[in-house]
Amino acid sequence: MSHSQAEVTQAEASGEFEPRIVAFLCKWCSSAGSDLAGVSRMQYPSNATPITVPCSGSVSPMYILSAFKKGADGVLVSGCHIGDCHYIEGNFLARRKIHLVKELLGFVGIEPDRFRMSWVSAAEGAKYSNVIKDFVEDLKPLGPQNKMKADRS
Ligand code: FES
Repeated sequence: MSHSQAEVTQAEASGEFEPRIVAFLCKWCSSAGSDLAGVSRMQYPSNATPITVPCSGSVSPMYILSAFKKGADGVLVSGCHIGDCHYIEGNFLARRKIHLVKELLGFVGIEPDRFRMSWVSAAEGAKYSNVIKDFVEDLKPLGPQNKMKADRS
């Protein structure tokens, strides 16, 4: 069991709801930003499981739905700032998908606020930690996501 899993389990044992977040992070910026937050020993909740992707534009809405199906309470997609995408317009594409993904979630009965997008550069470890803190706090009142979670019994 990883350190973060142990922390979440401990919080769950105390009865407090700890949202599980799947974070798709662009490898050129946000993933490096999360690494910077880690090596700089910035304090932030361990609720997010990072998945490194080539570009925020490469995250299909199907990946997002799949994360919810596997039990995520929230999904974050984080990429390079607009204008800084390694593939020129990948993050424009990602930004255009935000509305579509939120509509899709509403359609399947998941609160659209369970999905969030952010722009975090490799130098913004503090911003990454704040994005996670804010998302955790905003997810807590929504409670566990059970609408799409596959039955594992
Ligand atoms: Fe980072 Fe496209 S390479 S968002």
